[in-house]
Amino acid sequence: MVTKNNLPKRVKIVEVGPRDGLQNESVNVSTKNKIVFIELLAASGLKDIETTSFVHPKVVPQLSDAEDVLKGLRQFENVTYSALVPNLKGLQRAIDSGIKKIAVFTACSETFTKMNINMSVDESLKTFKEVTKVALENKISVRGYVSTCFVCPYEGEIKKEKVLYVTKALIDLGIYEVSIGDTIGAAVPTDVYETISYVINQIPKEKIGLHFHDTYGTALANVMSGLELGISTYDSSSGGLGGCPFAPGASGNLATEDLVYMLNKMKIKTDVDINKLVQASLYMQNIIGRTLPCKQLQRLGVVGQILNI
Ligand code: HMG
Ligand code: MG
Repeated sequence: MVTKNNLPKRVKIVEVGPRDGLQNESVNVSTKNKIVFIELLAASGLKDIETTSFVHPKVVPQLSDAEDVLKGLRQFENVTYSALVPNLKGLQRAIDSGIKKIAVFTACSETFTKMNINMSVDESLKTFKEVTKVALENKISVRGYVSTCFVCPYEGEIKKEKVLYVTKALIDLGIYEVSIGDTIGAAVPTDVYETISYVINQIPKEKIGLHFHDTYGTALANVMSGLELGISTYDSSSGGLGGCPFAPGASGNLATEDLVYMLNKMKIKTDVDINKLVQASLYMQNIIGRTLPCKQLQRLGVVGQILNI
């Protein structure tokens, strides 16, 4: 039986809207608009914001202005900006930009990893061993992502043993936290419970984050499964922006406002001001010109427009 007493008292939210959210948007968002968006997110109380990617600019053109975005961003007290890095070339760009946190990314399925970063899973682990070593020498902390931890769009169901293998390999490199991803948003709470309980049998739960896309509307239910297991880090994107260009059928991430609403009502602290967060999402919604899927955004956004706040 779930009660407030056996759930985490505080949750860390990693806001991935500016990266996971925008990487799949067809409307070109200007550097200036990205900077305003990220600063609005920071003003809402979000402390961990993934801002962009140092990937090949032709592979993800939307984020090809990574250096300019980071150069233009104001620093806020207690806010950490991070960016994705796929290899040593990306790491050098990250070092040159002065960023203090990066995230490397691999997956459980060979086909997805090949499509996404043109490496096998073991090649990616070899690459990230070197990337992590150099990053840590440069006082840059390293987060890790493992994609396709439940279902792969090319290979189908993924075994929990593979999730543990890849997650543990990243932790052993000195990566401080691994985000376990449901890349195409197909997992349900029982999948989360089965895989994550297996992983945290071997790896401290404080080192695990969960990253849900919401294709089938199960993301919040999956968070509940994670909370019951004591996981206290969740990735989400403002307004529910998002998707992965290499995961056909993947829709946006779990929306940050919907996550914050649920956690607030459950008296789990996040320090995020949902009304300010809605302003950030509305700002980006207007730029990309489509209605974002977040339920709280539509509820509070409409009220906000009527009240002109
Ligand atoms: P490659 O073609 O194998 O790279 O791509 P390469 O090492 O053979 O180099 C080819 C050329 O690219 C060279 O240039 C390199 O210098 C250049 P040339 O000598 O031909 O002029 N190059 C770069 N340029 C800029 N920045 C770089 C870089 N690296 C090489 N970092 C590569 C391999 C990894 C680069 C490519 O496949 C790539 O950029 N992939 C990124 C894909 C991506 O961003 N996917 C989305 C993010 S993952 C995700 O969304 C999932 C997640 O949200 C979790 C979840 O939901 O599950 C995290
Ligand atoms: Mg993602």
